[in-house]
Amino acid sequence: MHVIDIEMVEMTLDVVKYAINRITQTNPELGKPKTEAELRSLVGETVTNRGIGGERAFELFRDVLVKATVPIDHPRHLAFVPAAPTRAAILFDLVTSASSIHGAYWMEGAGGIFCENEAMAWLVSLTGMPAPAFGVFTSGGTAANLSALVAARETWRKDPRNKNVKGLMITSVGAHSSIKAMAKVIDVDLLLVDTEDEMTESALQATINALGPERARVFAVVATGGTTNAGIIDDLSGVARVCERENLWFHVDAAYGGGALAAKSVRHLFQGIERADSVTIDPHKWLFSPYDCGAVIYKNPELAKEAHAQEGSYLEIFKDEGAHGFNPSDYQIQLTRRLRGLPLWYSLATHGTEKYEWAVEEGIKLAQTAGKLITAHPLLELVRPPSLSCVLYRRKGWTPEDYRNWTYANHEAGFALVAPTKWKTANGTETVSRFCFINPDTTEEDIIAVLKSME
Ligand SMILES: Cc1ncc(COP(=O)(O)O)c(C=O)c1O
Repeated sequence: MHVIDIEMVEMTLDVVKYAINRITQTNPELGKPKTEAELRSLVGETVTNRGIGGERAFELFRDVLVKATVPIDHPRHLAFVPAAPTRAAILFDLVTSASSIHGAYWMEGAGGIFCENEAMAWLVSLTGMPAPAFGVFTSGGTAANLSALVAARETWRKDPRNKNVKGLMITSVGAHSSIKAMAKVIDVDLLLVDTEDEMTESALQATINALGPERARVFAVVATGGTTNAGIIDDLSGVARVCERENLWFHVDAAYGGGALAAKSVRHLFQGIERADSVTIDPHKWLFSPYDCGAVIYKNPELAKEAHAQEGSYLEIFKDEGAHGFNPSDYQIQLTRRLRGLPLWYSLATHGTEKYEWAVEEGIKLAQTAGKLITAHPLLELVRPPSLSCVLYRRKGWTPEDYRNWTYANHEAGFALVAPTKWKTANGTETVSRFCFINPDTTEEDIIAVLKSME
């Protein structure tokens, strides 16, 4: 398996040819899923005692299996939170794999960790968090949120009165599902401020004031810097004031919206993020990195280190003076880690931060353009004004089934992937359509064509 022979050379050529071809496509085929049984009948057994050979396995992937996936960078993939990694970042993902670097400790990964830290310093500068704020790259927003919340909980537990107490966190209905899921992982309760709109200082304060004896269990507040559903940014300055008054850890989940910190047109909306104890930003969402790349930043990295640094006789050498340096494993939940910040670093180094500002502004402009086109269309209506790069709108007269059938029909035709979502109303929820723009290659014509398909 580790021998270099002619088969290995041929496999290399196949893989590199495929990669070049895929990276240079601007309008990749919009694949769609097949059932597992269908895929099985198309490819047969792939893992066998003797192996099926690299050439055959690659053929199956290239000709069958990858076609049953949706390219997240398709310009008309406007569902969920899409992505559009730069070509420089994708190429460097290949280099990251080829370089086989262990990214946990400086002793083994110094040169690579140096690059990650260059990119991280830029992310930190976008937040405006003062020194010594710093962070690490994680596998995504969920892992970043988890790492931050563990640091918050462990800091709170330093007080002996909290030793055997089950913690309670406060967030809003608009927070991402990962906050609810990670509350389960760390076995704390979660209280929701009842709004999918902006969480305000007064609503948060009122929620805390109404708690009674439960107040003693509250250790953190999670605000959102760009909700997944609608791009809404909580009143971060107001939440910061409450957290400072109440002595609570202030976490900002800007996994999706964090990229917009680079955009001058909306930067003011994030006022207050610089006062956070921790911030999540996902470069694999709006900072054009390939999957997977999240980031968590701490106001006081020492608190994260106290919560996360692992100990073991086999790890002692990494803490030795001779191996001195920044150890990413000390600041998040993972030990062995890929240097997943490297593609971002290379792309930033290649293009410069101004290009990033431009590309993020493009997503915001596309949302504004979509808003205008929707307003001018007799059959369509905005549910709320576009926020960051998210647009919620309704097709007058449509039922939830109409939205679902329309999504499937467009996907089936290989034309677009735009999915419905729900928006809270006075009497429950309404099914509506949603755009999320990330890819600067999406055009006004793409939006017009998608809207036309609703007529
Ligand atoms: C606001 C927010 N937080 C967290 C996440 C989870 O991030 P990931 O999927 O990278 O774990 C998402 C994903 O869309 C998100 O939008």
